[in-house]
Amino acid sequence: MKKVYVGMAADLFHHGHLNIINEAQKHGKVIIGLLTDRAIASYKRLPLLSYEKRKLIVESIKGVDEVVPQESLDYVPNLRKIKPNYVVHGDDWKKGVQKETRQKVIDALAEWGGELIEPTYTAGVSSTQLINTLTGNGITPNKRLENLKRLLKVKPIVRIMEAHSGLTGLIVEKTQIEENGVKKEFDGIWESSLTDSTSKGKPDTEVVDFSSRFQTIEEIIEVTTKPIIVDGDTGGEIEHFRFRVRTLERLGVSAVIIEDKIGLKRNSLFGTSVAQEQDTIKHFCKKIEEGKRSLITQDFLIIARIESLILQKGLDDAIERAKAYIDVGADGIMIHSKMKDGKEIIEFCEKYKSFEYRVPLVVAPSTYNHITEDQLCDLGVNIVIYANHLLRSAYPAMFNTAKSILQHGSSEVTSEKDCMPISEIITLIPEDY
Ligand code: SPV
Ligand code: MG
Repeated sequence: MKKVYVGMAADLFHHGHLNIINEAQKHGKVIIGLLTDRAIASYKRLPLLSYEKRKLIVESIKGVDEVVPQESLDYVPNLRKIKPNYVVHGDDWKKGVQKETRQKVIDALAEWGGELIEPTYTAGVSSTQLINTLTGNGITPNKRLENLKRLLKVKPIVRIMEAHSGLTGLIVEKTQIEENGVKKEFDGIWESSLTDSTSKGKPDTEVVDFSSRFQTIEEIIEVTTKPIIVDGDTGGEIEHFRFRVRTLERLGVSAVIIEDKIGLKRNSLFGTSVAQEQDTIKHFCKKIEEGKRSLITQDFLIIARIESLILQKGLDDAIERAKAYIDVGADGIMIHSKMKDGKEIIEFCEKYKSFEYRVPLVVAPSTYNHITEDQLCDLGVNIVIYANHLLRSAYPAMFNTAKSILQHGSSEVTSEKDCMPISEIITLIPEDY
C-alpha cells in the first residue's frame, strides 16, 4: 500500500481539511502529520485546542489511517523518516510565506522519487478567520487561566508586556508583526503595580490597594484574551493574601508574583536609595504555602520574587531563597536586579541552571535592556516581562503635547504633528466590540 502524507494543524476542523483527506485517500494509506503545539506556537498563536484534543478529532475522521506528531513547521524530518510516496497539500502554498516550506518538500520527495499532489485550495473557508472570530468573542476565565502553563510548555521564552488599562491591554493583545512568515506578538499581560499606580497619579507603595487594582484587572480582562500575570506587590498580610489568590484565580488570571519584602513597599528600581526591608525566609515561605493551600485549580501559578540583588544582600542569599521558596511549592522564581550591566542576573541564571529541581524563571530586564530575548532564553529564563514600557513611552508624548499647546496658544501644531486624526480615534475601538 502506498503511503500518503498530509501535514496540518487542524485547530478548527472544516470541510477544507476533508477535501484534502478525501484526495489523499485516493492514493493510498493516509498519514496525518499533526503539528504539535510547539510547532504551531513557533509561527503563530497557541492553538485553541491542545495536540491531544486535535489528535482525537483527526484520528476519528474517515479516511485517516494514522496520526503522527510533526514537531516543526518543516515537513522534512518526518518525510525522511516515513518516506511517503505522496504528499498532499492545497495549492495555496505556491504563493506567500509557505513557498519555501513547499520547495523543501519537493526536494525531499525527490530523494526517493515521491510526488507532491496539490488539489485546488477550498475557497471561502479559513481556519485563521474562524479562530479570529472565535477569539474576538472573548475567552472564558478558566481557558485564559490555563494558557500561561500551556505557553510555558511550548515556547522557548514567554514574552509578557505591561498593561495598566483597557486601552493598553488592547495594545498588548493586538500588536503583531510578521517576520519571514513568523507572526510575532506578546504572549501575555503584566498588570504592573508601578504603571497601574503611576497612571492613577499615585506612588508605587501599595497605596493603590487591591480593590482598585482589581478594577484595572477587570478592565483589561474585558477587552483581551491573553493570559495575565498580576504584580501582587508583597502579597500583604498572609491572611489577606489567601483571599487575593482566590479572587485572582476566579477572575481567570494565570499567575501572581509576590516579592519578598515587608512593611511599606517601595519600587524596586529605587534599590537601596530608600528604606526597604526584606522578609525573612521563614515568613515568606509561609505566605507561599498559605497561598498555594487556598488555590482551587492546578493551573494558577504563585511566583516568588527575590529582592536580594535589589537590596544588595548578595547572590548567595538570592540562591538560598530560591531553593527555600521552591521547596515550599513556589511555581516560579522571579529574580530582579536594577544593575545596568546585567552581570548579577547572568550569575544567578548560571547558578539556577544547576538546581536539581527547577521551576520557571522570570526576569524583568528594565535596566539591563541590552540583553536580548534569545540571550535570556540561553540563560534558562522562561518568562521575560517588559514591565513598564507602554506607560514610559506614552508619558513623554502626552507631556510634549501639553507643553506645545501652552507654547503656541492653540493646538494646531501638535494636532497636525503628534496627534492621531480625530477620524481615527473615534473609530479606534469598534462600537460592536
Ligand atoms: C512593576 O512593574 O511594578 C514591578 C517591576 O514590580 S519593577 O518596577 O521593576 O519593580
Ligand atoms: Mg511592582
